[in-house]
Amino acid sequence: MEEKLIQEINEKTPILDLVSEFVSLSKRGKNYMGLCPFHQEKTPSFSVSPEKNIAKCMSCGEGGTPINFYRKIKNISFEEAAQELAQRAGIQIKQVNVKKEPFEKEFKLMEEVTNFYQFNLKHSEKGHDVLDYLVKREVNDKLIDHFRLGYAPPFGNTLYQLLKDKGYETTDMIKLGVVKQSDDGSYYDLFSDRLIFPITNPKGNVVGFSGRTLNKNENAKYINSPESVIFKKGSLLYHLFEASSAIRKSKQAILYEGFFDVISSFGAGIENGIASMGTALTKDHAKLIKNMTSSLVIAYDGDSAGLKASEQAISILEKEGLKIEVLTIPEKMDPDDFIKAYGPEQYENLFAEFLKDPYQFRYAYYKMGKNLQNANDIQAFKLNVMKMIEYADISIRAIYIKKLADDLGIPIEELSQTKTKPQPKPLPKSDRKMMIDRHTRAEYYLIFAMLRDKKHAKTIQKQLKRTDFADHVASSIRSKIVDYYDDHEFLVLEDFLDTLPQEERAFLEDIILNDWFWKIKVEMQDIEILDYAKLVKEASLKRRLQYLNEKIKLSGDHPKEKDLNERDQVIKDLKHKPREV
Ligand code: UTP
Ligand code: MN
Repeated sequence: MEEKLIQEINEKTPILDLVSEFVSLSKRGKNYMGLCPFHQEKTPSFSVSPEKNIAKCMSCGEGGTPINFYRKIKNISFEEAAQELAQRAGIQIKQVNVKKEPFEKEFKLMEEVTNFYQFNLKHSEKGHDVLDYLVKREVNDKLIDHFRLGYAPPFGNTLYQLLKDKGYETTDMIKLGVVKQSDDGSYYDLFSDRLIFPITNPKGNVVGFSGRTLNKNENAKYINSPESVIFKKGSLLYHLFEASSAIRKSKQAILYEGFFDVISSFGAGIENGIASMGTALTKDHAKLIKNMTSSLVIAYDGDSAGLKASEQAISILEKEGLKIEVLTIPEKMDPDDFIKAYGPEQYENLFAEFLKDPYQFRYAYYKMGKNLQNANDIQAFKLNVMKMIEYADISIRAIYIKKLADDLGIPIEELSQTKTKPQPKPLPKSDRKMMIDRHTRAEYYLIFAMLRDKKHAKTIQKQLKRTDFADHVASSIRSKIVDYYDDHEFLVLEDFLDTLPQEERAFLEDIILNDWFWKIKVEMQDIEILDYAKLVKEASLKRRLQYLNEKIKLSGDHPKEKDLNERDQVIKDLKHKPREV
């Protein structure tokens, strides 16, 4: 989006009206003050200046121009915020800039289904039994409405009939998994006689459902919507959208295993709970969380499956650079059981008493149930702990080496000498810059070009595989730019930098954006980009050749056919350097 347009949108959006939608303000001299919506506070430090048309928190510094305020408070991208505000202000944006919601039709159908289930919970005879069940589990009306709980009636095809009457296409119902076709060709509802939990995407659209049976003899406790174009469990978190404002305020999210844990917790006043739905935590989940907050509490069940899942979640979350704490629920309960048994206050107290850092948690978990007189147990325990601290900070390593030595009853030197990989020391910045060779430089320029223009990004994506980049950070950034353009026409640098983990962000800021090339904003020609891409490809092929040569040499008289063939191909590719499209 052009600078001029951004300016116009900001100018035509009165900050006072905008902020008033979210914060209650009172006048103080020329300005207005209110409680900051971005952090928790008791005395107002959020200041709105109608004169300068900006709003900023004097305490935490969040806020800014109307667009910046709006994107932060709605947790949307810069571009989306600008577009929405432009629309409100009646500013025409060129058609290319307006992004059409791609799944409007699908979302509408799912909304219809949600309303149907909600209606059936409150207004059907069978639904009343489910309401009784919810009352027993202390889920009150407020919670039922907030979570949009529903009931799927048991008659086979009520939902199908309703959707058909309303003119929805059967193919869409099937595609989204709410209706299925039986062998005789007739259609039936996927969910029957189940309590329904609608699942939203991070923008708040319902994209799938989970249904819990209330029948003890039924063996599938929950069934879920099948994966669809809009429902991908590996990149959705239950209640993330609904919790986003609470997460922003408390600067923290709480990750649960079950729907009921999120709901009970919410009832107990802890509103920033989310859950991964019966699947192991994925990198995508971690990224979703990272987009909203940098701090997370894992509050999985206290049973052995929950502990194991916590350990696995830590390693995924750690890689995204999140600050993690683990809440271990006593007596093998889940958070929901605990709240029922001891009440909301005791539950809040748990956060003070039972919160462990990820090292404390894992150390205790690895030690749990081990007999430290038994050679196998000693071996396993030691291996786990050494692996845990392999890349840890030096002071953390020292603490756990000492703990381990104490627990094993051996002198600490025995362990400190155990070889673990030495941490590679980062080069001082100035050295890093000097060492840049022609190929690396080419990689950096290609990243510039990708940041600048979607068209360049597409060309480079076509010319080079991610593994063609020698610099692993550059290579990862390359993929992220490609992903970003998947749903953006233009890359807003500030917006994009926000999505990166610390290491990559620092890399971009430090090396690339300091470069004169970026600063003077030289436009890049297509032919130049192809040249740079060729250079990078050539370097990549040379590296591959060297690797293959070494591998073939090591295999002595029995080199693999596959390797020999690949080497021939690489040599050929290197000779035909011009690999234009
Ligand atoms: P739980 O069995 O702990 O569920 O499974 P829960 O939410 O605490 O339910 P209650 O308290 O027994 O009523 C944790 C999560 O795993 C998924 C669901 O997302 C559930 O919330 N799950 C569980 C399934 O997908 N399928 C199942 O059969 C069971
Ligand atoms: Mn439970």
